[in-house]
Amino acid sequence: MSNYHIKNLEEYFKIHRKSVREPELFWEEIAEEHFVWRKRWDNVLSWDFNTPEVKWFEGAKLNITENCIDRHIRTKGDKTAILFEPNDPNSPAEHITYNRLYERVNQFANVLKSKGIKKGDRVCVYLPMIPELAIAVLACARIGAIHSVVFAGFSSSALATRIKDSDCKMVITSDGSYRGAKTIDLKSIVDDALNDCPGVESVLIVKRINSSIDLKEGRDEWIEPLLEAASKECEPEIMDAEDPLFILYTSGSTGTPKGMVHTTAGYMIYSAFTFKNVFQYRENDVYWCTADIGWITGHSYIVYGPLANGATTVMFEGVPSYPDCGRFWEIVEKHKVNQFYTAPTAIRALAKEKLSFIENHDLSSLKVLGSVGEPINEEAWHWYNDNVGKRKSPIVDTWWQTETGGIMISPIPYVTPTIPTYASLPLPGIQPTLMDENGDEISGNQVDGRLCIKFPWPGMARTIWGNHQRYKETYFSAFPGKYFSGDGALRDAVGYYRITGRVDDVVIVSGHNLGTAPIEDAINEHPAVAESAIVGFPHDIKGNALYGFVTLKETGEGRKHENLRQEINQIITEHIGPIAKLDKIQFTSGLPKTRSGKIMRRILRKIAGNDMGNLGDTSTLLNPEVVQDIIDNRI
Ligand code: PRX
Repeated sequence: MSNYHIKNLEEYFKIHRKSVREPELFWEEIAEEHFVWRKRWDNVLSWDFNTPEVKWFEGAKLNITENCIDRHIRTKGDKTAILFEPNDPNSPAEHITYNRLYERVNQFANVLKSKGIKKGDRVCVYLPMIPELAIAVLACARIGAIHSVVFAGFSSSALATRIKDSDCKMVITSDGSYRGAKTIDLKSIVDDALNDCPGVESVLIVKRINSSIDLKEGRDEWIEPLLEAASKECEPEIMDAEDPLFILYTSGSTGTPKGMVHTTAGYMIYSAFTFKNVFQYRENDVYWCTADIGWITGHSYIVYGPLANGATTVMFEGVPSYPDCGRFWEIVEKHKVNQFYTAPTAIRALAKEKLSFIENHDLSSLKVLGSVGEPINEEAWHWYNDNVGKRKSPIVDTWWQTETGGIMISPIPYVTPTIPTYASLPLPGIQPTLMDENGDEISGNQVDGRLCIKFPWPGMARTIWGNHQRYKETYFSAFPGKYFSGDGALRDAVGYYRITGRVDDVVIVSGHNLGTAPIEDAINEHPAVAESAIVGFPHDIKGNALYGFVTLKETGEGRKHENLRQEINQIITEHIGPIAKLDKIQFTSGLPKTRSGKIMRRILRKIAGNDMGNLGDTSTLLNPEVVQDIIDNRI
């Protein structure tokens, strides 16, 4: 029996049981049948969640681009690999075949080599959603360089933090980007960042918006002439299974972002296997994930997962509202998209618009709809199901994380019956469990707790770049012997999981994972600010928005609060990016604290969420009087 493609519910249960009983055998069969290896592994799995250390397919040798490109050109070289839909609806779409992808990745890889990039070097990719972004990522993988893609909406200071943390030698960027009606000057953001990054030796620039930019002598170069001169053949670097493939940063509850390290073989197998099953991809399908490659969703489900399966994957440069709110549906119709994967925040925003934006388009090609990044509320789920899927395309509500590398809990379409708001059942190979606050596993169904995973899976991140101790503390210490996701979940009577949200100080805003601590650090740099606390509160479209409680050093210093609010959001934009701006800022006389001086965010979360009925016991606070003051002045 092939475990790779699950076609009915009985088979799902059988395969899941096997994956729990004999996990090594389960993954080994998949690895054997569906990938090309330069050398077979010596050992399928070794692991210890206490150290923590996890190794899959040790001893195996491979290159992921041989699996994503080379092997397909032998059988389907003329098939479209990447279908690029530009920001401007009047510009033609670009069909990049597997043959062309092979040539372009090799040329790019040869350019990287000519600039001295070698196996193990870190390369930062700061590009908009243009084909060169996917090609740069694959070119790094071709030569064994570790890519670190930074979402091109991050500010120069956020970019600098990430470049320095992993000591990148090179940055790949563009002169600028198009986003709807706007153009963004990316190169100057990179220039600002690099004032602070002496380790970067070279910058390669893709021409996108034809703007005139400053080129720093000896460091900056347009990439086009280099690509043109480069050979279309580049021997792949042969990698060990556990060699790092990429670093991708995610925010945490505290301090600097965490550079999650994903390794080669396990990540490849896991992203490919989950892509095939969760989207039920068939040979001539056109698949579209609307995420940005700057996030894990784009890594796993625009680039690696689809390409490892020889799929056609759409890359969209623009935004859902340009030139109008029918753009997504226009693209679905134009390219006859079969699988469509997006985020609840986009669904909620489009659901507010006129239905004619949808009704004007033929969406009959759609077979599967996906949702990712945050809990999807019931209303949005039904709107998606009724209007986009016409109640005939199952919705896969996929739960996973940057850290997990691929989808963990999700229905398999046409296999698992779906229930709105439930991510439903674990994929084969995944053993979730719920833990209570005392650290005990909660047995039975109709329970809620903290979502942990009991057993390793091939796609999991292996460490945090340069800080294994933080990896251990963040994910393996709250519940020793288990991976802790940071999410809460409930399990219903039939064993379906419903993710209820973060239980730590990370807030998911429009599907973006934002740690509150780095935002507070940014605000506290404002000279007028004494202290601040950021919490999330429910928001109609974004899912959550940010509420800042800010104490000023001096009140009545003559400044208008409105100006201060703008300045605070400006500082956040500079330090992190516009995605982290606060929706509400309340100036307070103090922040509620415990006797040991810790801010009681639980109370602030309730006030921000207008849920003041049950604030819990406030009598043990150091300064209970500020609570009423904050409530009275709530925005
Ligand atoms: O809280 C969960 C939420 O997004 C977090 C992971 O964010 P990130 O690492 O940025 O990856 C997002 C894309 C995989 C999770 O800890 N989340 C993700 N998917 C869902 C979700 N919450 C509820 N339902 C989901 N389907």
